[in-house]
Order: sequence, then structure tokens, then C-alpha cells
Amino acid sequence: MLRGAIIGFGEVARNGHWPAYANSREAKIVAVVDRTEERRKAARESLSGVATFATIEELAAGAEIDFVDICTPPALHGEPMLDALARGWNVLCEKPLLLDLVELEKVRSLARAAGRAVVPVHNWKYAPIVRRATEMLGAGVIGALRGVEIETLRVRDCAVADPDHPNWRRDPAISGGGVLMDHGWHAIYLAHHWFGEEPLEVRASLHRPSANEVEDEATLNLIFPSGQAKIFLTWRAEVRRNTMRLIGERGEIAINDDTLKAGAETIQFESALSAGSHHADWFAAMLPDVLARFRSPETTQASFEEAALCLSAIRRAYQMA
Ligand SMILES: NC(=O)c1ccc[n+]([C@@H]2O[C@H](COP(=O)([O-])OP(=O)(O)OC[C@H]3O[C@@H](n4cnc5c(N)ncnc54)[C@H](O)[C@@H]3O)[C@@H](O)[C@H]2O)c1
Repeated sequence: MLRGAIIGFGEVARNGHWPAYANSREAKIVAVVDRTEERRKAARESLSGVATFATIEELAAGAEIDFVDICTPPALHGEPMLDALARGWNVLCEKPLLLDLVELEKVRSLARAAGRAVVPVHNWKYAPIVRRATEMLGAGVIGALRGVEIETLRVRDCAVADPDHPNWRRDPAISGGGVLMDHGWHAIYLAHHWFGEEPLEVRASLHRPSANEVEDEATLNLIFPSGQAKIFLTWRAEVRRNTMRLIGERGEIAINDDTLKAGAETIQFESALSAGSHHADWFAAMLPDVLARFRSPETTQASFEEAALCLSAIRRAYQMA
């Protein structure tokens, strides 16, 4: 049984990660670090027997762990990640893994030197409807992939629990960006996962409510050697919805929230892609792969590189826009 500590007990930790650990036979959360007493109290009330700490130093002195699961807001991922690696712990971290390419290089070399794994939470790959599409693509149902279209429609940005930063998704110093950094990260790793290639070119256009605010709408085109991914993301839609299309040489797979269509086949799934924001079932499906990487850190490179690719595509998009 691997013993872990959650760093940052907010919405995703409470509603997305914790339920999956509670049902896991391979990993147990023994500690929580949160800088606010309000959220440490929430952790003690939710997780019976868990020890809570205000800092990583206190955690290191007070608990024996194998890994940390970082669920702080984006700009606060790097510091605990480097600290954890220096202490010899493996790391699971929410998206966006990191906001800065220089910090990413630091993490890469420290992880290598420490022989530890850094695994990003790329949980959308584990949504049942996405997995089915991936299996169909792999089985050759639509032939070679030539195009991907992904649309994420939200009527607002997602609510948060951080008592100190109740609106961090709109604060560029904490979020690192708007809807592109928030939802675009998922769309980019999905496109990369399906094409199995690196994008050659990135094109982007962004909408910002005013010049110093983060973008609330983004269009991103990624040009891969075999085809193009067209991504549209918004926080100012009239409806909440996720759609995806995989266009192949011999047909297409279309996902509309809870429905997948491929040729004459229509498959209805239990829940829609846009239902909820924390996806405990996707996290639970991902967890065994994460723990396998902790056991064999040398197998982590591909998932780390996938996060590096997301960051560099988003950085290029911001530069361009
Ligand atoms: N993969 C997904 O589907 C998904 C869904 C939602 C959120 N997320 C990601 O999860 C992360 C957290 O998002 P959230 O919505 O849970 O935010 P949140 O504001 O609800 O929670 C953040 C928590 O971190 C704590 N915190 C802040 N700074 C800290 C520090 N330095 N040390 C310790 N604790 C600290 C806050 O007190 C709060 O409890 C973000 O990176 C977000 O992008 C991912």
C-alpha cells in the first residue's frame, strides 16, 4: 500500500481525488497539507484519521509518505513539486502541471536525479466515452486519423474553494491564463494522444474581456504531420456542453456529451462529459496507472513529455495572441 499526502484540499481534492483513494486497495491518503485552517478542518471532517499540516516541512516531520498529490492552484504547483522530489517522494500533480518552461526543466532534472516519478493528472483520457473513442480509433474503425475537433462550452469559470483566492481562475498571477490554460490543457493532450504525434505548428486567437484580464474564449489550431486539431473553448457560452469529433480516412467518431456515434453505431453513456467538474470516476480509472509509474519511475517519461507539450503549445499560443 502506497501512502500519500494531498497538498491543497480544495474542490478537486475533495470531490475528484479523495473518493478514488477511499476505494483504492493500492494507495491510502494519510495526510493533507493546506495553508488554511478552514480547508484542513474540511479534510479532517471528510477523511477520518487523516493528519493535517500547514506546510510541507511539518508534513515531512510528522508523516511517513511515498508520494504527494498536488491539488493547489496552478502557480502553486512548482514549489511543492520541487520540495517533494528533493525529499524523495513521487509526485502526482493536477493540470496545468507547471506554468513555466524553465521550472519544468528544473523538475525534469531533479526527478531524473532523484529517480522519482512526476505524473500529471491527464484524467480526460480516462472518461469512459473518450476511452471508447480511443479504442475504436486504435482498432481502425475510422482508418487513419486526419482531423480532431474539440469544443468545450462553459457558461462561467469553475467555482473554487481556496478561501484566500476565491476567484483565482481569473487571476493571471495564480492561474497562469484563462480558459486556454484551464480547459485547453485537456484538449491538447487528447489531440496528442489521438494523433500520436507532436504538433508542428500552433495557431491561436483569444478573446479577453479587457486587456489585463485572462482570456475567456480561445480558438486553437494544432497542425500535426497527419492532420489538424481544431479546438474551441469558452467560459461565456449559453449552454454547458462538450463535443469531440475524430475524423478518419474511412469515417468519423462523434462525441456529444454522453453519446458516441460511429457509422451506424450509437452508444449512450451513463454521464455526460460536461456533467460535474471533478470526475472522481475518471480519477479512479487513472489511479492504477499512476501507482504503476510510482513503482517504476523510469516508465514516466511519456506522460511527463505530454505535459511539457501542453505547456509549450499554450505558451506559443499566448505569445502569438
Ligand atoms: N483535472 C481536472 O479535471 C480538474 C478539475 C478541477 C480542477 N483541476 C485543477 O486542480 C487544481 C486545484 O483546483 P481547485 O478547483 O480544486 O482549486 P480550489 O481553490 O478549490 O483548491 C485549492 C486548495 O489549495 C489550497 N492552497 C492554496 N495554496 C496552497 C499552498 N501554498 N499550500 C497548501 N495549500 C494551498 C487552498 O487553500 C485550497 O484548499 C488546479 O490546478 C486546477 O486546474 C483539475
